[in-house]
Amino acid sequence: MVDKALDGAITQLIAAGEIKGKSGELTLVHSLGKIPAKRVIVAGLGKQAQFNVDSIRRVSAEACRFARGKAAKRVATIVHGGGVGGVELEKAAQAITEGATLGLYRFRRHMSKEPENGDVQEFLIIERDEAKRAQLEKGRDLGRVVAEAVVFARDMINEPANFMTPSIMADIARNMAGQYGLELTVLERAQMKELGMGGMLGVSQGSHQDPKFIILSYRGDPGSQKTVGLVGKGITFDSGGISLKPAEDMGDMKGDMAGGATVMAVMRALGTLKPKINVTAVIPATENLPGGSALKPGDVIKAMNGKTIEIISTDAEGRLILGDALSYAVKNGLSPVVDVATLTGAVRVALGDVTVGVFSNNEDFSKKVMMAAADAGERMWQMPMFEEYKEQYKSDVADVKNTGGRYGGAITAAQFVGEFVGDTPWVHLDIAGTSLTSKEKGHVVKGATGVAVRTLINLVMKLAAE
Ligand code: BES
Ligand code: MN
Ligand code: ZN
Repeated sequence: MVDKALDGAITQLIAAGEIKGKSGELTLVHSLGKIPAKRVIVAGLGKQAQFNVDSIRRVSAEACRFARGKAAKRVATIVHGGGVGGVELEKAAQAITEGATLGLYRFRRHMSKEPENGDVQEFLIIERDEAKRAQLEKGRDLGRVVAEAVVFARDMINEPANFMTPSIMADIARNMAGQYGLELTVLERAQMKELGMGGMLGVSQGSHQDPKFIILSYRGDPGSQKTVGLVGKGITFDSGGISLKPAEDMGDMKGDMAGGATVMAVMRALGTLKPKINVTAVIPATENLPGGSALKPGDVIKAMNGKTIEIISTDAEGRLILGDALSYAVKNGLSPVVDVATLTGAVRVALGDVTVGVFSNNEDFSKKVMMAAADAGERMWQMPMFEEYKEQYKSDVADVKNTGGRYGGAITAAQFVGEFVGDTPWVHLDIAGTSLTSKEKGHVVKGATGVAVRTLINLVMKLAAE
């Protein structure tokens, strides 16, 4: 249709071999007044056999960034792929919306200059067929809520550690609770002492920032006793503590609260989507710094569930605070429980920056998480949890020690965390490899990716529908 209005310009470009339709190919065509839009972007969708909802999200993101690079302020699209490749209209509209919002995302809060080509201010999906509208609008609305949740997580993760302290995380949770009708409890250091949260107290004792133990609840099914638990690691800066990290790239550790941001983002989305289910998020938030009263290698601490832990490395702090958070979660009857954490460099070695590591004590539940991930187009892979690994973190002086050596480091870390969940169905997502990226690709841009937000929203919506 556009081709016809442009007197066959696109057909000509194809004939000339300039447009091949390859995936990722973007061609700008000037309309020279023949249609209201000044410019048309022709986006290659690749081979039809490989085309799916993820391609739609990716193309939408890349075309939007391309348009922004040409200083476009308003972008409109038809539903590419709607009908083709068996993608439902609703899913297509959702993916287009997610792609546009996430692909155009940037974190410029601390930059004084306006961006060179400005920002896209309006994005439209165009459909003349009235019969298709309802489905498209449904997909668009869901896509918008999901994408805004991912943006919310990215913003928190990208924020420098001096702008994202445990207290600030608690403030954000308070605002969110007010806005979306969630229940909020924030435990202070004194209450952590009463509850015996030795992990939280130990990790936070080297910092001047007060630790916060944040509990956010969404009650969409008040008649039910059941509540799903989401636990997110909230280390607002991980210096390694006395086991200090190397200086190179240490700044990336401002993002060590990504798990916490992820579960907060999911709660925010639930506040809008209002599924019939109860969900409680638990976010243990603290810095890990090497102050004068910091935890030291060789120290022994006692976790909330009574287990004693020998500290081998103060840089293996995530599992210490997650231990208390998971003890708290199961003690309060949350089930099933998912924890999300930038837990180990080892998961990055194992799975790179492409795939989230999935660890679980329950086949049924981990299958559900894997399905939710596949549906959301997020790469996740399940890792083994054989008992033999547990040998590696046996201690000579306490019940366990907080490192298990280099080999299988992501697995022993997961096993350690699993010591605090008992028989509660549990999945651990290690996002240390996938939370940040240095590349721009599809809906992902440099900095925080917001990975796992879409999977977990999906998961909760599916659990609610069961
Ligand atoms: N926050 C780090 C893990 C991490 C590494 C996240 C790279 C993102 C990118 C975690 O607290 C950590 O330091 N883990 C140690 C554990 C080790 C001391 C057993 C690690 O992976 O080196
Ligand atoms: Mn660490
Ligand atoms: Zn850490």
